[in-house]
Amino acid sequence: MEAATVAPAQVPLHHLLRARTAAAHARLDAGLDGGFRDAREYAAYLAGMAAFVDAALAVIGEEDWLAGARDALARDLGRPVPPPAPRDAAVDRGDEPRRAGWRYVAAGSCLGARVLLRDARRLHAGLAHGTSFLATFSGGDAWPRCLALLRDADFDAGARERACDAALEAFHAAEAALNRAKSESNAA
Ligand code: HEM
Repeated sequence: MEAATVAPAQVPLHHLLRARTAAAHARLDAGLDGGFRDAREYAAYLAGMAAFVDAALAVIGEEDWLAGARDALARDLGRPVPPPAPRDAAVDRGDEPRRAGWRYVAAGSCLGARVLLRDARRLHAGLAHGTSFLATFSGGDAWPRCLALLRDADFDAGARERACDAALEAFHAAEAALNRAKSESNAA
């Protein structure tokens, strides 16, 4: 049943998030042309995801799957792996709906990572960067754990709307980070 025809309160939060962000995902996917044609595009994707994951860590906090993604990206980019931040430094625990919206987008990106890993492995010969991020992210349990948290989230109508707004905020942050990395790579 389409989310649009059912009162939002009755739709599982995951389905509401997916319906509200489908256009943002399609735009982001189109911006990445569905994958990588060469090592330069792959390097720009890694740099863009590294910036997006840092933004997600600032909102969600130092959850192990996300810190693992940050560290794998640093390794693939040949950057120093930053020391872990104190467990819940400066994270606004009060804003659980915002954290849930960002977590949905960041954890959901591991689904596309499975598709992109095939691309990166196909390009392997010409790559200057590793594929540990795509391999660990696509093989991890971030997504089922995120879905379980969404199922257990006891949000009222206002909190569900805030989670949807935050998911759109996160998609826009990912799109901006990937576009910035792409234009910097093209300018180099
Ligand atoms: C070329 C790049 C990408 C491809 C090919 C791609 C592909 C996919 C695919 C195949 C799915 C599963 C769809 C389904 O089961 O219904 C998916 C889901 C998702 N992707 Fe992407 N993706 C890409 C980039 C991204 C990025 C960069 C992000 C976020 C930063 C993202 C966030 C999500 C989310 C949140 C979902 C979960 C949708 C849901 O089932 O609720 N994707 N993606």
